[in-house]
Amino acid sequence: MKTVFQSPVEPGFVQYPYAFYDTARTYGDLVYWDDYKKVTAVSHRAVQALLKDRRFGREVPAEMQRPGPAHLLPWLKIEAHSLLEAEPPRHTRLRALVMRAFTSRAIAALEPSVHELSHALIDRFPDTPFDLLDAFCTRVPVITICRLLGVPEEMSPDLLRWSHAMVAMYQASRTHKTEDAAAKAAEDFTAFLSEYIEKRRTDPRDDLITRLIAAEEDGEKLSRDELVATCILLLNAGHEATVHSLGNGVKTLLKLGIAPCAQTTDGLVEEILRYDPPLHMFTRYAYEEVDAFGHSFKRGDEVALLLGAANRDPAVWSEPNRFDSTRPIVTNTSFGGGLHFCVGAPLARLEMRIALVALFARCPNLRLTAEPEYSNTYHFHGLTRLMVQT
Ligand code: HEM
Repeated sequence: MKTVFQSPVEPGFVQYPYAFYDTARTYGDLVYWDDYKKVTAVSHRAVQALLKDRRFGREVPAEMQRPGPAHLLPWLKIEAHSLLEAEPPRHTRLRALVMRAFTSRAIAALEPSVHELSHALIDRFPDTPFDLLDAFCTRVPVITICRLLGVPEEMSPDLLRWSHAMVAMYQASRTHKTEDAAAKAAEDFTAFLSEYIEKRRTDPRDDLITRLIAAEEDGEKLSRDELVATCILLLNAGHEATVHSLGNGVKTLLKLGIAPCAQTTDGLVEEILRYDPPLHMFTRYAYEEVDAFGHSFKRGDEVALLLGAANRDPAVWSEPNRFDSTRPIVTNTSFGGGLHFCVGAPLARLEMRIALVALFARCPNLRLTAEPEYSNTYHFHGLTRLMVQT
C-alpha cells in the first residue's frame, strides 16, 4: 500500500483538498495516510463497501475502551450515549426511536415551515454587503431543527455556540483549549437540556422531545443520559453540515453563474452534495480479521473513509471535477452509508431545495463581494464567511 503525506491544516489543502484526493486515488482503493497514521479508503467502491461492512463499526472495541482524561468527561459522557457512536443492539434501539420523527411524511410536512422561514430571512437582508452564512445558511437549519425537536428558537445562539465548541473536537486543528471549550459546552448544553426536559415533562406537545421524553418514562427504551445525548446529537448534526452544504453550494452556483429554478433543483442539490460536501472523513474500527482491497485488517484497526474523495471518483462520475447539475443522479457518499446512514438526509435535502429556490428567486442579482475561503477545520469543509450583495 502506498504511503501518502499531506498535512490536513496546510492552507492549499484546506482550500482545495480534491487535488490530494485525486493523486491518492491513482495509488489504489486504499492508501496509508501518514499524517493520520491510518489506512484510508479513497475510491468510491472502497468507501461504500467499508461503510456497509458489518465487520466494521464506530463503537470502540471493548478491550480498547479507556476512561479518557478527566478534563474531557462531560464531552465524553455525551459521546458514550450517542447513537452515532453506538453499534447494535444499542444503535438499533436508539435509531428506531429517532426514526419515528424522520419518516418521509413527517419531513414533507415541514415544507411550509422551511418555505416561510427562508422568505422571512430573505426579507431581512440588508442592501449593503453581508455574510450569507450568518444571515441565511446557518439560520434555516438551526431554526428548523429547533422547531422539529421542540426547543425554543431563541436558544439558537446558545445552541450554535455549544455545537461549534463540541464538534471542534473532530477537527485536525484540535488543541487543549479546544478540549476545555468542548467540555464546558457539553456541561452547559446538558444543564440546559436537563432543566428543559423537566419543564416539558408536564407540557406535552406534537414534537420530538415529547416523544423522546415518553420513551424515557417508559423505562426500558431510553435512559436519561441517552435522552440528553440524543437531543444534543440531533441539535448539532441538524445544522452543522447543512449550513456548509448550503454555503458551499451557493458559492459554487455564484462562481459558475447558475441560478436554480424549482424544476431543476433535485439534480442540483445532489450535485452540490457530491461536488463539495461539508464532511470529508469518518472512521471505523475493524471488529474481526478482514481482508479487503488487498489489505489485512486486524481487530481494533482503524480505517479512515474519505467521503469527499469517493464523490470525485472517475470510475463513477465522468469528469468528476466538473460541476454538472444535469448529470444522472448516482447516490453519492456525502450522507455516508450502511447502519449509520444520515438520519437527517431527507430533511437536509428538503431544506437545501427550498432555501436555494427561495434565495435565487428573490435575489436574482445575488453576487459575491469577497473571495470566499474555507476554514481550517478539516475534516469539516465549509466557508469562514460568504460575503454577498443582493
Ligand atoms: C447536508 C447535510 C448533512 C450531511 C452532509 C450529513 C452527513 C452525515 C453523515 C456522513 C453521517 C454518517 C457518519 C458515519 O457514517 O460515520 C451522518 C449521520 C447522522 N446525521 Fe447527518 N448529515 C446532514 C444533515 C443532518 C441533519 C439535518 C440531521 C438531523 C436532523 C442529521 C442527523 C444525523 C444523525 C442523527 C446521524 C447519526 C446516524 C446513526 O449513527 O445512525 N444529519 N450524517
